[in-house]
Amino acid sequence: MPFDLKRLVTERLGENYDLHEKYVNQTLVRVQRSIGFDKVYSRAEGAYLYDQEGNQYLDFLSGYSVFNVGRNHPKVKKAIQDVLEMDLPNMVQMDCSILSGLLAEALIKRLPDQFEAVFFCNSGTEAVEGALKFARSATGRQRFISLKNSYHGLSFGSLSASGIEHFREGFGPFLEGCATVAIDDIESLEKLLSKRDVAAFIVEPIQGKGVKYPSGDFFNQAQALCRKYGTLFICDEVQTGLGRTGRWFGFQHWNLEPDIITMAKTLSGGYVPCGAIATSREIYQKTFNRMERCVVHSSTFGRNNLAMACGLATLNVLEEENLVDNAGRMGTLLIDKVNALKERHPFIKEVRGRGLIIAIEFEEPTDVRARMAWKFVHKVDKSLFPQMIVTPLLSKHRILTQVAGHNMDVVKILPPLVITEKEVDCFVSALDSVLRECRKFPGPMWELGVNLARQLVKAGEAGKKAA
Ligand SMILES: Cc1ncc(COP(=O)(O)O)c(C=O)c1O
Repeated sequence: MPFDLKRLVTERLGENYDLHEKYVNQTLVRVQRSIGFDKVYSRAEGAYLYDQEGNQYLDFLSGYSVFNVGRNHPKVKKAIQDVLEMDLPNMVQMDCSILSGLLAEALIKRLPDQFEAVFFCNSGTEAVEGALKFARSATGRQRFISLKNSYHGLSFGSLSASGIEHFREGFGPFLEGCATVAIDDIESLEKLLSKRDVAAFIVEPIQGKGVKYPSGDFFNQAQALCRKYGTLFICDEVQTGLGRTGRWFGFQHWNLEPDIITMAKTLSGGYVPCGAIATSREIYQKTFNRMERCVVHSSTFGRNNLAMACGLATLNVLEEENLVDNAGRMGTLLIDKVNALKERHPFIKEVRGRGLIIAIEFEEPTDVRARMAWKFVHKVDKSLFPQMIVTPLLSKHRILTQVAGHNMDVVKILPPLVITEKEVDCFVSALDSVLRECRKFPGPMWELGVNLARQLVKAGEAGKKAA
């Protein structure tokens, strides 16, 4: 029978979770089934996903910030079709392709003057790995400092610089000499930098896990200390870059002048993996400093045509559709409207964010009985309460969101930058309704919490038996 992809997908759609249980990540399937996230999506457009029955879901997760321009954007799709139609030579390797040159030019045009050159790769963690290597060869130093609670990716270099223990457990030892400091702890940072052996200080302008950032000028002070002690300052813009925060780049909120930035995720509009590092020509050339070192850091698929074409189309869409401004406006509206819910739902502790990277943090309710339930749920698992919000948001209101991280009472939203007031209102009224249910004790929400807790305990026991 001739290969027919459309027929294959039509015939087998629905077997998704069984296939993954058998051949891919069983544990992930178990989690998705237990929290009711085992939906079979069959189509996607803009800010929406659709299941097999044609139900519409509002996507406030954006593939972890991959779909800033919305899903299946026609302009990005057309760019892919154009590349295929042109039968362009791809990855000749011993040449310089036009599309990678054009995308590098387009990125540099949108960046401040100190950025002069771009290196392309395939993912966020690969961009961070490259940035760390560039920093070592530019400074001749070995050590890296990052922030507690930071996330820079899961390959060894990036993980060595990441500050979330959950992701590191069981994978050490890591790169020697890496250290973390807490946001705002400028004294500890200076103590470390003053030894003059640190290659780079790397930060996410807004941390993905929990949406955390300094309230004052910590980043500016840190940057000044980096300059003083000869350390490079890297801003990891993999999640915050390209409009997510209501500015083109997250570092612009603090008027920073990083030496290196990393990008990925939305860079290629959600179709093809793509990552990039931007830096000065001087730093770039310290790695590629001799003819025989011209590919000393490289990646086979790094400048592939589809990724580059998608990148060009994505930058164009962000600009033509004013999506960076829209992210700023919709973000402010969302934060204001969720903040207004505080009056009715006092266990909303804080709503924070910039543009469309937003965290809603909860705290122990004041009602005595609800407080007992809160304590029980937290005893079982410290990330369970936000799951009790996220699960009905999906099952009852068809809105996809996520728990912001382990051991925190935070729901995180990352809507595509194409949303309008309609989507903002839809989310706020769904959240209002879910929180109203939460205030009924006993009630279905707390039953859900107890059920989730039981399943977690069961899964833990099964895991222990298997081990
Ligand atoms: C700030 C940051 N850096 C690096 C990464 C890793 O990117 P990737 O998953 O593409 O390797 C992520 C992913 O979430 C991220 O948010």
